[in-house]
Amino acid sequence: MSHVIAIDGPAAAGKGTLSRRIAEEYGFHHLDTGLTYRATAKALLDAGLPLDDEAVAEKMAREVDLYGLDRSVLSAHSIGEAASKIAVMTAVRRALVEAQRAFSRKEPGTVLDGRDIGTVVCPDATVKLYVTASREVRAKRRYDEIVSGGGTADYAAIFEDVKKRDERDMGRVDSPLKPAADAHLLDTSEMSIEAAFRAAKTLIDAALKKKI
Ligand code: CDP
Ligand code: CDP
Repeated sequence: MSHVIAIDGPAAAGKGTLSRRIAEEYGFHHLDTGLTYRATAKALLDAGLPLDDEAVAEKMAREVDLYGLDRSVLSAHSIGEAASKIAVMTAVRRALVEAQRAFSRKEPGTVLDGRDIGTVVCPDATVKLYVTASREVRAKRRYDEIVSGGGTADYAAIFEDVKKRDERDMGRVDSPLKPAADAHLLDTSEMSIEAAFRAAKTLIDAALKKKI
């Protein structure tokens, strides 16, 4: 059986950065499951279809190609907002979770990051990390990302945005964001990317050793 490393956490906690680094370290395949929700949302927006029709959204979700996901064309703020709206729909989640589970079985192992990997998508994952950071730190990270890319940003607006996203992700009925009972908590508020990677690697190495 191949290994699955499940990485969950709120917006801008550093899941993606950490997951890519871990996948490279272990030679595992990586899937950013947030992109599957974003791709579904973008397809609806591009086609001028409503975001609140569950049957239509499910059909779009079933057409998402997990191997053609590109964050650079899915990164718009409006797509993130739309993604978190369609992510409350059970039929959309069912379709995307099916595809994500199939991906998670790839050899020799996979890293999946998202909101419900340890709780719903891969409850039997080899190791589960719940990566978090204070809301202030997460908003500052998003702010720095925009400013270092040459853009202008309003910290207060970003903070409100992160708060709204947290409330929607943690408050939904189907698969709310929460740590799995057996997840390791990793608070990266005071950690550099390198320090977070080191801490994650220690936990993962211990789990892989136990399961071999
Ligand atoms: O904007 P950010 O990078 O934080 O989010 P993302 O990972 O790109 O995901 C966009 C939205 O998809 C999230 O706000 C969640 O509502 C939803 N999502 C989810 O419901 N379950 C997942 N496993 C991944 C993302
Ligand atoms: O995937 P998620 O939305 O959880 O976060 P991300 O896109 O991986 O990280 C958000 C930003 O925080 C990136 O610009 C990272 O470089 C930065 N980051 C950081 O400054 N310190 C960390 N320990 C982790 C991420």
